[in-house]
Amino acid sequence: MKRNLMMVGVVAASAFASQAAMADAGLDLAKAKNCMACHAVANKVVGPAYKDVAAKYAGQKDAEAKLVTKVMKGGSGVWGAIPMPANPQVSEAEAHTLVKWVLSQK
Ligand code: HEC
Repeated sequence: MKRNLMMVGVVAASAFASQAAMADAGLDLAKAKNCMACHAVANKVVGPAYKDVAAKYAGQKDAEAKLVTKVMKGGSGVWGAIPMPANPQVSEAEAHTLVKWVLSQK
């Protein structure tokens, strides 16, 4: 009985750890692709805070596709006059990973 409870604890702990690892992978990619030069998770830098982006698009089904295009091609006018430049260093698959990570910020 005690042993079973311990097993539950181990499974729960490793589920939590893999979630944290996923979050870190998103952050690492964002750092590697220079996104964090203009963005932070919790506050506005040159671009909007990623948690504000997540809040703005919460529940919008087409948000991921739209933001993938925006990340790759750049654009302006959603958050202010400052444009985001195109990010040609990011592949479409990487843009999906980055946008999923951005939209998961709270
Ligand atoms: C040179 C600065 C700069 C860099 C580098 C940059 N961004 Fe941005 N980003 C901005 C600005 C400025 C905006 C606001 C654009 C607007 O108002 O439409 C923005 C907006 C965004 C948005 C919200 C777009 C929208 O239409 O709501 C996302 C998502 C985003 N950036 C992700 C990224 C990712 C991922 C990277 C790295 C590949 C990145 N950004 C790199 C400046 C930057």
